[in-house]
Amino acid sequence: MTVVRKIKTLGLLGTGVIGGGWAARALHFGIDVIAADVKPEMEAWIRGAVANAEPALARLTCAPLPSKGVLSFTTDMRIMAERADFIQENIPEQLPLKQRMLAQVSRHAAPNVIIASSTSGLTPTDLQRDMASPERFCVAHPFNPVYLLPLVELVGGDRTAPATIEAACRFFTYIGMHALHVRREVPGHLTDRLQEAIWREILHMVNEGVATTGELDDSIIYGPGLRWAAMGTNLIYHLAGGESGMRHMLAQFGPALKWPWTKLEAPELTDSLIDRMVEGTQAQAAGRSIRELERLRDDYLVAIQQVLRQFDIGAGSTLRALEARLYKDAAAGEPAGSADAGRPLRLLTATVRPEWVDYNRHMTDFRYGQLFGDAMDALYRQVGIDEAHRSGTGRMYYTVESHLIHLGEAKVGDSLYVTTQILAVDPKRLHVFHRLHRGADDALIATGEQMHLHVDTGAARAATVDPAVQAKLDSIHRAQSGLPLPVGAGRHIGQAKA
Ligand SMILES: NC(=O)c1ccc[n+]([C@@H]2O[C@H](COP(=O)([O-])OP(=O)(O)OC[C@H]3O[C@@H](n4cnc5c(N)ncnc54)[C@H](O)[C@@H]3O)[C@@H](O)[C@H]2O)c1
Repeated sequence: MTVVRKIKTLGLLGTGVIGGGWAARALHFGIDVIAADVKPEMEAWIRGAVANAEPALARLTCAPLPSKGVLSFTTDMRIMAERADFIQENIPEQLPLKQRMLAQVSRHAAPNVIIASSTSGLTPTDLQRDMASPERFCVAHPFNPVYLLPLVELVGGDRTAPATIEAACRFFTYIGMHALHVRREVPGHLTDRLQEAIWREILHMVNEGVATTGELDDSIIYGPGLRWAAMGTNLIYHLAGGESGMRHMLAQFGPALKWPWTKLEAPELTDSLIDRMVEGTQAQAAGRSIRELERLRDDYLVAIQQVLRQFDIGAGSTLRALEARLYKDAAAGEPAGSADAGRPLRLLTATVRPEWVDYNRHMTDFRYGQLFGDAMDALYRQVGIDEAHRSGTGRMYYTVESHLIHLGEAKVGDSLYVTTQILAVDPKRLHVFHRLHRGADDALIATGEQMHLHVDTGAARAATVDPAVQAKLDSIHRAQSGLPLPVGAGRHIGQAKA
């Protein structure tokens, strides 16, 4: 069999949750889809599922995409089988039904058309039993939502040709997936076996009243779940073993395998099992020291928590709550105007993070705006504009004009601080001048002049600021009134230097 067929059209058998997900992913990456389902009403359903996935898919990458594929629908499985270049089966998880339908489809599809099954746990040898040209069959197990999660487990059965797995791998990679070849067929493949172990333990613990479903989910999302996003249990345990890694980890925690920490029984920790675990994790480490891997882990854990913070969910909520308290404490400890009388306010310190730099290895443009924005937030908190004030009054300052002047460079790890001078304040406008300095030598890296307008967000109109806030801003402005006008204030872009 030669499974070298250009894949222009993906055929789907079954258009429920998983079929809909496959359709959305394939169409997005320029593959036409012909979807077949026994129920005619599934046409509206799959079109809705594709539309629903689109906003998230559109944000996945900014890279240029081919023009979208075209979706068609049929209740006639034969039409789908005759037109498709690759067929993905997604009907209910029942072996006799899948066997019957796969056999039928295989009789209408050309022999060089790969037929794959989304089965969560049935084995390919069983599924391909009655098929014509069974060598072109494999399991291709995706994860919900198929259009966003890249993993697809590829499993061949006794009669699957290696070329089928290779060609399926190429196709799934083309549509943005990570194809994981499961070398030996086992019920549940790899991922569902791991998920199932946790799932059964959860059911035991809920059943025995040890914990609620919420507590058990918390035990994942605030801890191991964050690590699992980029390192699996094995590499994580390799790091848990200190400098000598997995071998030390197994020596230390080996005896615990006999303790009743789970209902699932552990295998005997033989020397050969220990060697396999050590060799496996050393291969994963690929020459990187524990220290290096720890830094990598720490960097992605910071990045993940920063992202979750935007959504105010899980570990991101914890970080948000911590920051709110820290800002509040800092504002309470520094009465407005007093500590910095006669000097610009020192409002913010920050360290340049690895993800803040561009290809020059210097801090990228928009991070300057972010730092000046964060300095303004600190100023607002000092004068009484916090989350409670914003939601209570529906009023806040908007930045309406900014002028950034770059004077130096900031590199990864540089410690920076921002000072702010109020140039003018009235009931609706706040005119400020920020300076960004490098902590090590106080060098001036950039300045930012901004005009902020106080706005009633409901009415979308300028509105006067709360008198108590205005009084605090006035007091800072008065305290700074002896300062000279900063060099660069009022300058326009391209203006010759004096
Ligand atoms: N839901 C998940 O999270 C998930 C994840 C990975 C894999 N899977 C696997 O994907 C497969 C489908 O699961 P699902 O959740 O999409 O199920 P689903 O019930 O949402 O969809 C099944 C679809 O198949 C259709 N169907 C039934 N018999 C048919 C036939 N003879 N011909 C054509 N269409 C037929 C049904 O009308 C329905 O639209 C299962 O094998 C499941 O194990 C599911």
